[in-house]
Amino acid sequence: MMTSLTDRKNSAISRGVGMTTQVYADRAENAEIWDKEGNRYIDFAAGIAVVNTGHRHPKVIAAVKAQLDRFTHTCHQVVPYENYVHLAERLNAIVPGDFAKKTIFVTTGAEAVENAVKIARAATGRQAVVAFGGGFHGRTFMGMALTGKVVPYKVGFGAMPADVFHAPFPIELHGVTVEQSLAALKKLFAADVDPARVAAIIIEPVQGEGGFYPVPTAFMKALREICDQHGILLIADEVQTGFARTGKLFAMEHHGVAPDLTTMAKSLAGGFPLAAVTGRAEIMDAPGPGGLGGTYGGNPLGIAAAHAVLDVIAEENLCERANQLGSRLKQRLSAIREKAPEIVDIRGPGFMNAVEFNDVRTNLPSAEFANKVRLLALEKGLILLTCGVHGNVIRFLAPITIQDEVFAEALDIIEASILEARG
Ligand SMILES: Cc1ncc(COP(=O)(O)O)c(C=O)c1O
Repeated sequence: MMTSLTDRKNSAISRGVGMTTQVYADRAENAEIWDKEGNRYIDFAAGIAVVNTGHRHPKVIAAVKAQLDRFTHTCHQVVPYENYVHLAERLNAIVPGDFAKKTIFVTTGAEAVENAVKIARAATGRQAVVAFGGGFHGRTFMGMALTGKVVPYKVGFGAMPADVFHAPFPIELHGVTVEQSLAALKKLFAADVDPARVAAIIIEPVQGEGGFYPVPTAFMKALREICDQHGILLIADEVQTGFARTGKLFAMEHHGVAPDLTTMAKSLAGGFPLAAVTGRAEIMDAPGPGGLGGTYGGNPLGIAAAHAVLDVIAEENLCERANQLGSRLKQRLSAIREKAPEIVDIRGPGFMNAVEFNDVRTNLPSAEFANKVRLLALEKGLILLTCGVHGNVIRFLAPITIQDEVFAEALDIIEASILEARG
């Protein structure tokens, strides 16, 4: 008897690697994926915000193919290449902040976060780091410690690195105002950690895994002031928000606040593993030679892809497109809300949108309803992701290059799935 792929997966792969679908990809093009059986899916996950420029964008593929034919790996620390230097120059020019910047390349978002903390500690000579409840910063030890959610990210993994503190993230919908959040931070500095020992405050401009909650501008501006007052560095984790997703190249542009360090990954290289930290030149130069880097950091294929991604975003006006798609999606969700009182919030800048569900009887967050919608949509050929500390949010992360007719089809599936989930 043939063993199913699911059985083979279960016996070969640790259950620690969670999987939200059993759709085994065979091929993908822009916003569509086909599985082994030839079933076609519309992809509203984009590999978790990675292919903002779509699966296999012709320019990205051409750039990577050209690089494949020249060389695939030399390790930039041993035999460097011009493309790496040029991409650093490009990021230094476009990352928010009107000051001289420098960049390093690594491979994953978690690694970018790790390095941002290393750089902040080296630059300030301080130890402590403040992050926010519900935030997500990766699965390595510092990433885990900074992440503001225990299950499933920290549970069972033992002692976390010391000197990491959490403050409440301001979410009015959940009864936490900007003022309350700032008061809690003040209390943290009075009760738990001397601000003079804090190297950095790290924040996602829009919480990603935590539930697609945008930081209110007043809060971001206040954080900048607090950082300046105490000599603390502000790290913007733009791993999920970056590269046109929010209708700007970087989400921090919405706030007019310049972080000292910015972490990037995911859609930077349109599907190839590449991550970066860009920040104030003097801060980036604090660690000594050899203190930063890694064998694969700035792999030539990822670097070639990233150049193409930046070109595509500019040539195809993807920031503007993100705003158009996002407003169409939010309009449609508002119309659905008239018929589905489970919807308690529709939000998100640009095309980083989410819908939040409560149980109509209890008015409490309903992960069950969100999951039902996700599974019904999957049956109808649409891949959706949930998120949020309560798991009751559906986030929409389609490629920004999605064709209008495919987008319209997806909107119909979203409506049908929400209405059907009501029973
Ligand atoms: C804001 C943020 N930071 C860091 C990470 C970790 O990135 P990676 O999974 O590439 O390590 C993620 C991943 O979802 C993220 O959303």
